[in-house]
Amino acid sequence: MSGDLKWNKIFGAALGTAFVILVVQQASGLIYHSEPPEKMGYFVDAPDEVAGAEQAELPPDWGTVLPTADLAAGEAAFARCQACHNATQGGADGIGPNLYGVVGGPVMHRAGFAYSDAMAKHKAEAPTWGYDQLNSFITAPARYVPGTKMSFAGIRDTQTRINLIAWLRSQAIRLIRVWVSRMPAKDIL
Ligand code: HEC
Repeated sequence: MSGDLKWNKIFGAALGTAFVILVVQQASGLIYHSEPPEKMGYFVDAPDEVAGAEQAELPPDWGTVLPTADLAAGEAAFARCQACHNATQGGADGIGPNLYGVVGGPVMHRAGFAYSDAMAKHKAEAPTWGYDQLNSFITAPARYVPGTKMSFAGIRDTQTRINLIAWLRSQAIRLIRVWVSRMPAKDIL
């Protein structure tokens, strides 16, 4: 009899634990659950301002602006890209290609990704994602690469783009940075 009671206790404890796990799962599901986009390739962002109103501006002096860029703000700005991209090493392609190492890398840098013909045409003209090219692309993707399948209106604020490019770059040079950490920051960035 006392043996039965012991098992009752054990089963009771196990049931109780399972119940708690279920409740926590349900609750966190309620809090963190996010629906996948219903329609792929939609415009995630509205333009910051009316397109016609913007002025042609000179490209930033990257040697000056990158060392003082706000990496945390750049990471925050990357939230606008994350519906389609990640920038982690070895990360999978999504609606858009993985962006690890894209800064300074070749256009169409992911072999397995199905780029548009427009991007292939762009690559023939400008094969590298240098700072200026990235800056122009992120300002207004469809204007810089007409016909691109990157359905993103663009980021009109120059400092936000600088921060974002600096952060993207910092993702791929983290290790190198540790090795050369005795170099002055301006030589690394
Ligand atoms: C709605 C989805 C979407 C969003 C949001 C988006 N992209 Fe893209 N991106 C794409 C797609 C799709 C491509 C491939 C374009 C093509 O082939 O024409 C692409 C391509 C790129 C490329 C070229 C990569 C290469 O290998 O040549 C860069 C760089 C890039 N995106 C950066 C960004 C950044 C930075 C942001 C955020 C500011 C962003 N994208 C937001 C979908 C998106």
